[in-house]
Amino acid sequence: MKIDFSSDAHHDIACDLLAVGVGTDLSADLADLDARFDGQLSTLANRRKFEGKAGQRLLVPTFGKLGAHELLLIGIGDGTDANLRAAAGVAGRSARSQKATHLALSVGNGDATALNRWVEAVNVGNYAYEVYQAEADQTPVLAQLTVVSNDALGTQEAQIRSDAQAWTRDLVNAPAAEIYPESLAAEAQKLSTIPGVTVEIWDEAKLVAENCVGILAVGQGSDRKPCMIRIQYRPANAKGHICLVGKGVTFDSGGLSMKPSNGMQTMRCDMGGAATVLGITKAAAALGLPIAIDTFVGAAENMVNGNSFKLGDILTYNNGVAVEIHNTDAEGRLVLADCLLEANKVDAASHILDFATLTGACVVAIGSDFTGLFTHSDELATGLMTAAKATDEGLWRLPLHKPYNDMLKCEWGKIKNVGGREAGATTAALFLEHFVEDKTWAHLDIAGAAFLDKAKGPYVAGGTGQMVRSVTTWIESL
Ligand code: BES
Ligand code: MN
Ligand code: ZN
Repeated sequence: MKIDFSSDAHHDIACDLLAVGVGTDLSADLADLDARFDGQLSTLANRRKFEGKAGQRLLVPTFGKLGAHELLLIGIGDGTDANLRAAAGVAGRSARSQKATHLALSVGNGDATALNRWVEAVNVGNYAYEVYQAEADQTPVLAQLTVVSNDALGTQEAQIRSDAQAWTRDLVNAPAAEIYPESLAAEAQKLSTIPGVTVEIWDEAKLVAENCVGILAVGQGSDRKPCMIRIQYRPANAKGHICLVGKGVTFDSGGLSMKPSNGMQTMRCDMGGAATVLGITKAAAALGLPIAIDTFVGAAENMVNGNSFKLGDILTYNNGVAVEIHNTDAEGRLVLADCLLEANKVDAASHILDFATLTGACVVAIGSDFTGLFTHSDELATGLMTAAKATDEGLWRLPLHKPYNDMLKCEWGKIKNVGGREAGATTAALFLEHFVEDKTWAHLDIAGAAFLDKAKGPYVAGGTGQMVRSVTTWIESL
């Protein structure tokens, strides 16, 4: 997408769709446009009860009275920063549904950060996954965005971040027939064209040699071989070093503890954690951020065949923890454990952040507007929550309550791979903690936010790519 700026009056800009933010001081905000419509715009707004409240919108054909073919008034209420960003998201999504390829966005003047966020929000809203739609049913992505503002600030950065998020969404949306461990690894391999990035894949034989028991067990019931994706990003002048870990279950049938059909329907999204860390790594590296990153993805397909892993199996991990399998559908934590143990080994790294579509319990607790955050570090929690707020991604801290470790007790191993009915998202996080050593750690359960069954807010149905912008913003803040 080409991004340009115009300090011209917005009524003159030639484009498909002009999106104008209108606040509750309606008559002042509309005066200039209203004059071009001989007062009929305010009459229409009045009749349609468009009062400039946040979330309201009014689409008007311009019949040649403006440079734009169509005008979209978007309510911005009292004009808070968040309302302006939401308006940009609405503009992006409307542009897609109106088949506009040139959008002009006019929501006022902003600094570099604000402009950045607007461009990101337009991109979030403009996204659609139409790979499998007939050509006639496809809608065009924006080719040009004209920001009506005082200056051309920071949009290069926004475009890089937006592209990374869109890549994450594409990976999540692609069917499991397309994205399986090996092809996910091939996608990750594309990152090696970015300066400073190297990608290494541990295939099944290497996983056996390294005793990655979790990835192997989850993957052993599938014809698609599992692997571990390992990415290093080494910037020239690193000021810090972190590890990212992602759950890459490319399809989760539940294994022998099989999911019912409706629970399985969208389980291609179960590599959402992997897609998220790939997106973050891409954004950070493409931006040249001065933080070294080691990224680990455990990629496996959780399927059923004569060799599937079984209930009662015991997996002994490289740190000596023996895990008793009580449910093959609690597989995400099993693949993450191997990756966390690898991340511990990165001596120079101070933090580990893992991302996983881990528990239905998290979705039950906080729904799809939020990612669940588990960490013992108040500082890390504050940093991540601040970044999430700035990018309008929902993040909510949940208890990492150690006494609940009791629920993981079992007879023959150290821990079992499921807790009880209570606090399922917390017991999953506590399971993971058995594989974290001395680094500052956060676990982000994206089971709800990573994938939407139905369009909501600026998002179409499917992968949302949430946490890519939040965590990239957090890395920028380090
Ligand atoms: N991939 C699922 C979790 C999930 C559920 C992700 C809904 C996205 C939407 C995970 O592997 C799983 O099956 N978890 C089980 C754990 C249980 C067996 C302890 C669950 O949540 O039911
Ligand atoms: Mn599962
Ligand atoms: Zn799963």
